[in-house]
Amino acid sequence: MNMALFDRLSTVQADLLVAFVPAEGALPESTAWIDENVAGQISQLRDTAVFKGGVAQTLLLPLMTQDFAQAVLLVGIGKDAELSDMQARKVIAAVAAQIKGLPYESVAVASAALTLKGRSESDIIALVSQWLNEGFYNFLGFKESDAEKATKVASLLIQGSDETALTIGTATANGSAFARQLGNLPGNVCTPSYLASKAQQLAEEFSIDVELLDESKMDELGMNCLLSVGHGSDQPSYLIVMHYRGGEEGDAPHVLLGKGITFDTGGISLKPGAKMDEMKYDMCGAASVFGTMKAICELKPKLNFTAVVAAAENMPSARATKPGDIVKTMSGKTVEILNTDAEGRLVLCDALSYIERFEPKSVVDIATLTGACVVALGSVNSGMYANNDDLASELKAASQTAADKVWQMPLDEEYQQQLDSNFADIANIGGPEAGSVTAACFLSRFTESYPWAHLDIAGTAWTGGASKGASGRPVALLTRYLLAKV
Ligand code: BES
Ligand code: MN
Ligand code: ZN
Repeated sequence: MNMALFDRLSTVQADLLVAFVPAEGALPESTAWIDENVAGQISQLRDTAVFKGGVAQTLLLPLMTQDFAQAVLLVGIGKDAELSDMQARKVIAAVAAQIKGLPYESVAVASAALTLKGRSESDIIALVSQWLNEGFYNFLGFKESDAEKATKVASLLIQGSDETALTIGTATANGSAFARQLGNLPGNVCTPSYLASKAQQLAEEFSIDVELLDESKMDELGMNCLLSVGHGSDQPSYLIVMHYRGGEEGDAPHVLLGKGITFDTGGISLKPGAKMDEMKYDMCGAASVFGTMKAICELKPKLNFTAVVAAAENMPSARATKPGDIVKTMSGKTVEILNTDAEGRLVLCDALSYIERFEPKSVVDIATLTGACVVALGSVNSGMYANNDDLASELKAASQTAADKVWQMPLDEEYQQQLDSNFADIANIGGPEAGSVTAACFLSRFTESYPWAHLDIAGTAWTGGASKGASGRPVALLTRYLLAKV
C-alpha cells in the first residue's frame, strides 16, 4: 500500500473521496467542499435522515455524472465535537473495511475533518495512517479463497502536512502487520526455528546483526530453566538476539525481550482442550518484538536497540519437565517447577540474566504471561509492571501517544512471599491470588541490575471468538517508546 499526504482537496487526484459527516451542525470545511461538488447531496442526505452521520456509519455515493471523482464514501463521525480514540478507531476501521473491497485504485481521505480529544494534527495523521493501513491486513496463505481478498486499492492519500507523522504511522502499521502475521501462523508452521529464520531474514533485509543461541550454547551458559521448557518438545529451543545499531558505537542499548512460546499445551500440567488452539498466540510477545524491530529498521532512529526472543514449545512427553522438578537458572537461583504451565517466566528469567551482558539502559519484556491478567484488565489495557518509575512514566506516555493502552500494576514486596518454596530458592507459581502480580514478581528476581518493565499482554495480543486474530499490540506502544529515546 502506497501512502502519501495531500494538502488541498481541489488539487488531489483520486478515484474515491472519503468524506466525514458529523451527525449535527455545520459540515467541516473539507466535507463542505465535497458537498458542493456533489450538488449538496451530503447535506440533503443528512437533512432527510437517509444518512444520519452516526459514528462509523457509512454510505457509498457513486457519482455517475461527476468527473472530479468516481465516488464519494460518506463516513459518520457522530455528534460530539471531538472524537475519542475509541470512536476514531471505529471510524477509521469502517473506512478501511469499506474501501478495501471497492474497485478503486486511489483513495483520498479528507481527514482534516477529524478532530480527536487531546490530540495534535501530527498525532492524528500518525494514528489515521496506522489504523487505515492496519485495516488492510489479511491473513493469507492457507485458504483457497485468498485471491478474492486482494484489494484494488494501491494508493491511500491522507490530508495533512506532517510527513514524519505519516512515516511513523505507516512503519508502525508494517510492524504491526508483521507481528499479526507471526501471531496468526499455526504452531506447526511458526516453531522456534521458524522465528529464528525470521530474524535471519530481517538481518538480510536491513543491516542488523543477529545471533542465534541454540540449545548446546544455552546449555554451556547454564540456561537450564529456559531449556527445561522445551524438554518435552521435538522442536529445538532458541534464544534469538537482534541488534539494531543506529546510535553511537559503544552506547548501551535499550532491550526488548519477547516471550516466544510457539505453542503452549501446558506441558505435563496439561491445559484443558477448550480453546487450546489459541495457545498458538503464546508467542505474541516475541511477535511484538519482531514487529517493533521491523518498524525501527524502517524509521532508522539514532539509537541502539537490541531485541531478544526466548523461543520454545511447551509440550508433554516422556522427556518433559514434571511438576516438582527443580532446575538451576543461569543466575544460580534454583526454581521448583510446581506447574509446568507457568512456563513463560521460566524462559524469560534466563533471557533476563543473559541480557545483563549488554549493560542495557532499559529492559522491557513483553509476554502473554497470565490468564489472571485477562481477568484483571480484559482486552483493553495491557498490564504494566516496573522496578523504575521513570521507565514506567515513559511507557505510559508512549502508550498514550500510540493509543495502545497500559495500566500499571503493583509489585509490592508483600507479594513476593507467595513464591516461597520448601525445596528451592523460588517456586514458579504463587497460588491462586494475584496471579499476574506474582508472575511479574518472579521476573523481578532476575532484573535487579537494570531498569526493567514487564508488559503482560495476555488479554490484548489477540481477539478470540468470531473475529479471532492477532492484534499487533503493543507494537505501536513499543515503537513510540523507542522513538522517544532519541
Ligand atoms: N500462556 C499462558 C497464559 C495465558 C492463558 C494467556 C490464557 C492468555 C490466555 C501461560 O503460560 C499460562 O499458562 N499461565 C498460567 C499460569 C498458572 C499456571 C500459574 C495461567 O495463567 O493459568
Ligand atoms: Mn502456560
Ligand atoms: Zn504460556
